[in-house]
Amino acid sequence: MFLEKIKLQNFRSYSVLNLAFQPGLHIFFGKNGAGKTSLLESIFYVTQGRSFRTHQTQTALKSGESFFRVQAQLNGEHLLQNEVIYQDEKLKLNQNNKPTTSRKMAIQSPSILFSPQSLDFVQGGPEPRRELLDEIVLTRSPSELMTFADLERVLRQRSLTLRKLKKGEISPKAAEGLLIGLNPLLFDLTLAIVELRIKALSEILPLFRESARQMNLGSGVDISVEYVISEQEVLTWSPENRKKHLSNRLLELADAEMSAGANLFGPQRHDFRFKWAGYEARHFCSQGESRGLILALKMAQIVYHQKVRKTRPILLLDDVMSELDSERREALRGLLATGEFQIFLTTTEFEKSGFESIHQNVWHVDGGQIVKVAKILN
Ligand SMILES: Nc1ncnc2c1ncn2[C@@H]1O[C@H](COP(=O)(O)OP(=O)(O)OP(=O)(O)O)[C@@H](O)[C@H]1O
Ligand SMILES: [Mg+2]
Repeated sequence: MFLEKIKLQNFRSYSVLNLAFQPGLHIFFGKNGAGKTSLLESIFYVTQGRSFRTHQTQTALKSGESFFRVQAQLNGEHLLQNEVIYQDEKLKLNQNNKPTTSRKMAIQSPSILFSPQSLDFVQGGPEPRRELLDEIVLTRSPSELMTFADLERVLRQRSLTLRKLKKGEISPKAAEGLLIGLNPLLFDLTLAIVELRIKALSEILPLFRESARQMNLGSGVDISVEYVISEQEVLTWSPENRKKHLSNRLLELADAEMSAGANLFGPQRHDFRFKWAGYEARHFCSQGESRGLILALKMAQIVYHQKVRKTRPILLLDDVMSELDSERREALRGLLATGEFQIFLTTTEFEKSGFESIHQNVWHVDGGQIVKVAKILN
């Protein structure tokens, strides 16, 4: 998969920008605030239908304008025309002139991002980890998109019921009746998603460990992951025990859900954790070790994607080379140099891009303008 053309209108600091790209490495360099991350964000937007920077769509709208639009032509197995339009406080996604969703878009035109915020996967709250895990699940099993859509629907219906109960708009008896009707479906979908996540985690774990080994991370300490449901690690359990645990949790949480007026059961409450020598990495690892862990996982994600989908995702690397030590930089460079990926990399100093000797397209970014400065062949 590669991005052939992109057009931005009123996106962040860009008024109108038309760019054409080739496969291979593209470096965007420029000073702080020049618009480098915004460019990567626009590529992420038009491949995945969402921002990696914010959930508040309007923040990407150029100050004083009434709409933004990002259009792209992508070349994979088929030609794809993707479009993202934000107007009247609504975000619309189209692929080949048909409306689509962000998850569908991400499956059709995959991109993988590694940025300084990726550290949050190790050190931050569970939401980005769940999103990353589900991204990996859908890489492996795109047809499971329906399972996620069904889950969202049943969670919405339950949430509405529980909120009405809390506000006194329906009686406890009526609420209980509605919940009893929805619970079997919620249970089945939760179990299905848990097993999908565990399968994906188990398959990516050897690749993750291999990447960690390649960059000499932790010099031989055991690096692993856990899947956590209500403070219990269940990755190593049998499927029957996981099913029993979930079934008990659904019953145990029933009263708490009624008094909270919110869903407390389901895969949207689970987490996965990084383990380092048996300790939870979040509380144990240094910044550099955490960065190494997430880089190892991202590298595993790239390899896994190639393995299961037989295609190469577009890689977006935002200002990351300068944060990595020489060993990690070398490991990443080794993977990328062999893969024939299309890569977009930002850096404030071109000399520190880490890719000086590789065939590359170099662009200078400066305050909403971008100029191609060189093409270097080694
Ligand atoms: N909605 C918006 N409208 C106009 N300008 C914006 C908007 N959002 C952000 N900006 C500005 O766009 C500029 C480019 O930001 P961006 O994050 O892309 O810079 P960058 O080149 O990645 O910088 P750094 O090297 O510091 O990471 C910044 O000056 C920012 O203030
Ligand atoms: Mg930036």
